[in-house]
Amino acid sequence: MRLPARPKLEWKQDGTPVDGRVDDVYYSVEDGLAEARAVFLAGCGLPERFAEKAGFTVAELGFGTGLNFLALWQMWRAETAQTGWLNFVSFEGFPMDREDVSRALSTWPELAQVSEKLVEKYPACAKGVHQISWPEDRVTLTLHIGDIAETLPAAQVFADAWFLDGFSPAKNEAMWDDSLWPLVAARCARGARLATFTVAGDVRRGLSTAGFEVRKVPGFGRKRHRLESNWPGSQAETGLVATRNGPETGPKRVAIIGAGIAGASAARFLHQRGADVTVFDRASGPAQGTSGNPLALVMPRLDAVDGEEARLVLSAYLAAQRCYDGLPGAQRVDVTHRPRDETEAQRFEKMLFDPPLGLDQLEAIAGGVLHKGGLLLRPAELIPALLDGVEVRWASEAVPDLSARTVGGEQFDAIVLATGWQMQEALPWARLSGRAGQVEWLNSEVEAPPFALTGGHYALASGYQRLWGATYGPHTGGEASVSDGARRENAQALQDLAPYWWQEAKAGTVQSRTGVRATMTDFLPMIGPMPDVAALLESHAGLRHGQRVDAPIPLIEGAYIAGGFGSRGFTWGPWAGAILAAHIHGDPQPITFAGQAIVAPERQVLRDLKRGKA
Ligand SMILES: C[S@@+](CC[C@H](N)C(=O)[O-])C[C@H]1O[C@@H](n2cnc3c(N)ncnc32)[C@H](O)[C@@H]1O
Repeated sequence: MRLPARPKLEWKQDGTPVDGRVDDVYYSVEDGLAEARAVFLAGCGLPERFAEKAGFTVAELGFGTGLNFLALWQMWRAETAQTGWLNFVSFEGFPMDREDVSRALSTWPELAQVSEKLVEKYPACAKGVHQISWPEDRVTLTLHIGDIAETLPAAQVFADAWFLDGFSPAKNEAMWDDSLWPLVAARCARGARLATFTVAGDVRRGLSTAGFEVRKVPGFGRKRHRLESNWPGSQAETGLVATRNGPETGPKRVAIIGAGIAGASAARFLHQRGADVTVFDRASGPAQGTSGNPLALVMPRLDAVDGEEARLVLSAYLAAQRCYDGLPGAQRVDVTHRPRDETEAQRFEKMLFDPPLGLDQLEAIAGGVLHKGGLLLRPAELIPALLDGVEVRWASEAVPDLSARTVGGEQFDAIVLATGWQMQEALPWARLSGRAGQVEWLNSEVEAPPFALTGGHYALASGYQRLWGATYGPHTGGEASVSDGARRENAQALQDLAPYWWQEAKAGTVQSRTGVRATMTDFLPMIGPMPDVAALLESHAGLRHGQRVDAPIPLIEGAYIAGGFGSRGFTWGPWAGAILAAHIHGDPQPITFAGQAIVAPERQVLRDLKRGKA
């Protein structure tokens, strides 16, 4: 099943939830909140240890109702002197729905200020990584949804504290399997502490074997004992690459080159995370490049079968929803999606047989599917909203020196390259190809509610505006220009999608616009640290001769890329922004290890090496 499994919820008279699958309570019937504070928070030395790091990370096995998270968040808010950031990463195989979480948490009015915030932004029920932030409280939740055997090995997190809360080991062995402990150890920062309510022999032995120091301490309520544990080692010993996260040294100074959707999204996530961001753009104002069509559409790419790539495109779509919802220039729209041909019709059929999203997001309709979480965007309003609070230097020809981390001689901690199609000049090794995307639009006599219909091409309406397109032709170089051929292609498509508009278009003034979409050979984006390609060609030379090379990818420290977004710029943007903000701050990633490899900027060079082309 592609949708996550669900708990079999039952409720005790006092309001405590029970999962009937394993016949166990989510938390102590005596007082779940007091238990969370005693077993997990105090058990991991909190709040005293918050001051150790600029970004403090707590991880948890078993998110459940979010009670432990909320107890922690409330404690964090009470620490008024803190200037750091709290990351909470949790793993959940059987997510409750929003209503049930709200019902369970209503037991604790004293948590209302934080539980309302959680319920408001509660993630969609889909497998994958969901990252949600509350910048006003300096808190981020990263929720990995899926079975623990899949999600834990895939997670990019190094925690300072671990809460083990996966039902009773006797009733739910999968959550306490021996294979878990080395994976938990590998995700511990130096000096991490771990706490759990159970003292089961297998758990103690498993933790000790993985290298934890374990001690039994007096338990909460009727439980005689609980466990506290220390991780004495460092990340380097576990084989995973350590993230940079030292003591607070002031906000990171980040330069972003390009104020299109890639740059603006990165700016928003970095600014919200507390970075001091400067954006440089050649244009004299926002939304003049490829991101500047009058209307844009965000809808999901839904693959027929599950897989890393299918989850990755879904995560990006859900991240875009979370980012844009409520911003100026963003409207929710139901997108009617007709298959463009027989092959796509078969793909829809297969996908609907085992859909990746629930009925709140996706529904089968006659002749296609309905995406209920689609977004209709007005980039001219949205992009300035994303850049709100950020210094933007318009009409500036930025001259970055990536190795020195300077732009026009000015020093930064990190530089993000987000220059869209222009990137191909700076990064020839990425072998980006340009695709010319032309759209047409008119101002109608009639006001319409938000409307989106697609079947290869699309027709969009918002207010008085009607927009249709887009073409996807080769771009051979130079400035993008409007073509009559593309206009005819779009007109043909419109007659099929919205024939009534076509009547209006024939009589009215139609405007056209072309943007160049930068596309990698695999049609996936480039998101992540910038490789040092000259060094990479040497370190990975063995690939030319079919050898396996395990060496780390040489990187240009402090340099990052967000680009190659093709025709899905508005979908990839926010997710890329979140990934880069996590890289730059050494925070838990909203992307798995395998996902990171799929979008890694260096992947084309590695392919070329293997094929003897580099
Ligand atoms: C005791 S409850 C957690 C309570 C939670 N910490 C809270 O604050 O409400 C255990 C959680 O582990 C989850 N779980 C159990 N088995 C799992 C598995 N194999 N993979 C992932 N999650 C699992 C359950 O769905 C449940 O939400």
